[in-house]
Amino acid sequence: MSSDDPAEPDKTNGEKVPTRLPATDSEENGGKRKIDIEIREMEVDDIPAVFHLGERVFTAEKTPTLYRTWDEFEVVSMFTSDQEYCLVAELEGQIIGFILGNVIAKRKSAWKYGYLVWLVVSPEYQRLGVASKLFNRFADKMIEDGVRIFIVDTEADNLEALHFFRAKGFNSPQQHIYMTYNPATQEQQKEKKRSSRVKKNGNEHKRSV
Ligand SMILES: CC(C)(COP(=O)(O)OP(=O)(O)OC[C@H]1O[C@@H](n2cnc3c(N)ncnc32)[C@H](O)[C@@H]1OP(=O)(O)O)[C@@H](O)C(=O)NCCC(=O)NCCS
Repeated sequence: MSSDDPAEPDKTNGEKVPTRLPATDSEENGGKRKIDIEIREMEVDDIPAVFHLGERVFTAEKTPTLYRTWDEFEVVSMFTSDQEYCLVAELEGQIIGFILGNVIAKRKSAWKYGYLVWLVVSPEYQRLGVASKLFNRFADKMIEDGVRIFIVDTEADNLEALHFFRAKGFNSPQQHIYMTYNPATQEQQKEKKRSSRVKKNGNEHKRSV
């Protein structure tokens, strides 16, 4: 099978196609506090809990880009477009984690990409294998649906996420720069320049008379 997408790896010599995930849930939880969580598909009634958990975790100080792009419409939109790739981790009736993603299938290409868009575990339950369980289920479903490469992105200094993704087998990080543009600040700077030009011209005019 050949690819017409230059970004895609060579099918025979390139990246390994995942057939089985690296470790089972029980292996990952070995020797740690055991928590009896259920991983299940997200339901409409979970939307507020998922939104609020994300809001608690994505803060302007720690993850500014994720903070800016996380809102209730994001949850609703992912849920309505890709419900089967929206999973939650539930513990005694409480949502303690979620994973939201989608499958990108390109026209004229046999390749399908699994895009992990959002992954969150409540801070009190981190390092207990919850994200691993969510990701394993998510990836199993995507592989079943024909996904061969997974994609994820996060801020370069989000070390906990980077450690996690590496632990799950993600590699080949590519640099991607986020920039922000604030029209109001831009306008203020232009105004400052304009008024200092006017001042300067005024002074020169005074000197010449
Ligand atoms: C990233 C995140 C989802 C990981 O969730 P988690 O449930 O704690 O992850 P797991 O317990 O399944 O970790 C599995 C492995 O990943 C690695 N890992 C996860 N968190 C780590 C951390 N903070 N430091 C170092 N390694 C870490 C470890 O190898 C870990 O295995 P170990 O605990 O046996 O050493 C969680 O830290 C989180 O919600 N972060 C904030 C949200 C975020 O940044 N999401 C990603 C972008 S959308």
